[in-house]
Amino acid sequence: MRAIAIDGPAGAGKSTIARKTAQELGFIYVDTGALYRTIGYAVNHFGLSTKKAGEVVSALDRIHVELKFIDGEQRVFLNGEDVSDLIRSPEVSMFASEVSAIPKVREFLFDLQQDLANHHDVIMDGRDIGTVVLPNADLKIFLTATAEDRAKRRYQQFLESGTVVDFDRLLEEIKQRDYNDSHREIAPLRQAEDALLIDTTGNTLEESIDLLQKIIRNRLGLE
Ligand code: DC
Repeated sequence: MRAIAIDGPAGAGKSTIARKTAQELGFIYVDTGALYRTIGYAVNHFGLSTKKAGEVVSALDRIHVELKFIDGEQRVFLNGEDVSDLIRSPEVSMFASEVSAIPKVREFLFDLQQDLANHHDVIMDGRDIGTVVLPNADLKIFLTATAEDRAKRRYQQFLESGTVVDFDRLLEEIKQRDYNDSHREIAPLRQAEDALLIDTTGNTLEESIDLLQKIIRNRLGLE
């Protein structure tokens, strides 16, 4: 099996780039952020606080998360219900960032992620894929861009999906999440030593996709 790990901060374009590249290569694209989002969503849905580790951990017994690939698209299921769309709000982003700092939550999701990589060729994106989940990945990429650039992209995505959000608030949330994700004690967001750093600031999405595909094809010896 072949594995490509893509890590980086929120909004760097990881998911769009990884999804398109996976389609091209015939790999499955695994968005691991969706798993943390599902836990955050579930904890809040149960009326518990995502800020309180004890409450979050006590809820794990009642949470069953599953990823299914329908026509090549990842869907995430919480206790049998497809929550893929419900977990996309800015509110759930913050819940996800909070629960992701809890070691038991990361442990809870670890096997699921490794298991997918053991059975499929994968492009997996997240924060700790190259450093923790798939340390032996064939290729590791750390994708980044300035917070302003990332907030602009997120803003555009929300507009396109018909959701009205405040730009300044989005930028603040991105900065807050960057801070949370890179300062937590367990599996913080950081570039693996053997990861390739790609800064997409100022690139169009097409340029970034093109660049990444070239790198991947080259490294994996595809054509
Ligand atoms: O990629 P995303 O924005 O959907 O991720 C949501 C949150 O989940 C993010 O703030 C940090 C956390 N996360 C993580 O800790 N480890 C991962 N591999 C993926 C996401």
